[in-house]
Amino acid sequence: MRFLSSRRRHPAAKLLLLVAGLFVMGASWAFLAPSQQVSADTNTTQQIAQGKALFAVGCSSCHGLNGEGQVTEHIQGPPLVGVGAASVEFQVSTGRMPMSKPEAQAPVKPTRYTEEEVLALAAFVQSLGPGPEIPTEEMVDPGNLSDEDLSRGGELFRTNCSACHNFEGAGGALPNGKYAPSLRGVSNLHLYEAMITGPQQMPVFSDQVLTPDDKRAIIGYLNTLHAKPNQGGLALGGLGPVSEGLWAWVLGLGIVICFGIWIAAKGAKAR
Ligand code: HEC
Ligand code: HEC
Repeated sequence: MRFLSSRRRHPAAKLLLLVAGLFVMGASWAFLAPSQQVSADTNTTQQIAQGKALFAVGCSSCHGLNGEGQVTEHIQGPPLVGVGAASVEFQVSTGRMPMSKPEAQAPVKPTRYTEEEVLALAAFVQSLGPGPEIPTEEMVDPGNLSDEDLSRGGELFRTNCSACHNFEGAGGALPNGKYAPSLRGVSNLHLYEAMITGPQQMPVFSDQVLTPDDKRAIIGYLNTLHAKPNQGGLALGGLGPVSEGLWAWVLGLGIVICFGIWIAAKGAKAR
């Protein structure tokens, strides 16, 4: 019997803790690692059915069961017929939607839907009335732009975007508590979708106003602008949000440190 006393359990418990620790690290990595872009057919009936069900639960309270929109004393949801899949992908995967409370502008926050669910929601809204489709990866990829294309992108950015988003894309305030967000760290897909859907105060930049090549030149320009390292010191207007990668590190390291402390405390107690 003495064999089974606390002394015996000790090494096994330690191993268990180690396994648990590794599991949490793995799980948090899987959670934080950037997910692959799934290119799926956005128009299968199954997907639309899945989207309809998700919509009924998460969106219909404001937008109505069939995206017809509603205005009551407390709730105002605009109609979504014809806003298109691109608008849904943009709004939901940047976490703007579902809106959590009425405010001047829905803020960017972590999304609560998987990529598959976002695509299903997008397919459902697209089925209500055709609107801009989600652009493909090739459509939003600026590729290797020549210096000439890049300076044209810069020119187009200064003419069309900097009035609201600032010359460095650092964002800026607008009247009535609204704001144009910083464009630093925004994905190519979301840059393109914002241009074709025009969220809130932002105008829609149709292909007549900015051709697909123009849009890619702007995306390429912003990528090079934001890839440039800071020259040290505090850049004016460069105080954008901390990039997602850094948060992943801070969070991941935090979890690992907490685990270390916990294991150490457990070990001390067992002894
Ligand atoms: C609490 C109310 C509320 C909920 C819940 C909500 N929305 Fe919205 N939604 C709004 C409001 C208000 C706006 C317009 C203001 C804005 O864009 O910030 C809006 C705008 C949108 C737009 C942009 C429309 C356009 O003109 O391009 C889309 C797309 C959208 N919502 C989709 C969704 C989806 C999908 C869900 C569910 C996952 C959802 N919303 C949940 C209130 C809500
Ligand atoms: C009239 C002001 C205005 C102009 C001009 C404008 N935007 Fe915007 N933009 C906004 C506002 C306001 C938002 C935030 C909308 C929201 O949160 O619903 C926004 C959002 C965005 C976003 C989403 C960023 C994020 O964090 O998800 C992108 C990308 C963007 N704009 C790119 C552009 C580009 C590129 C141009 C020029 C082709 C441009 N905008 C021109 C006002 C503007």
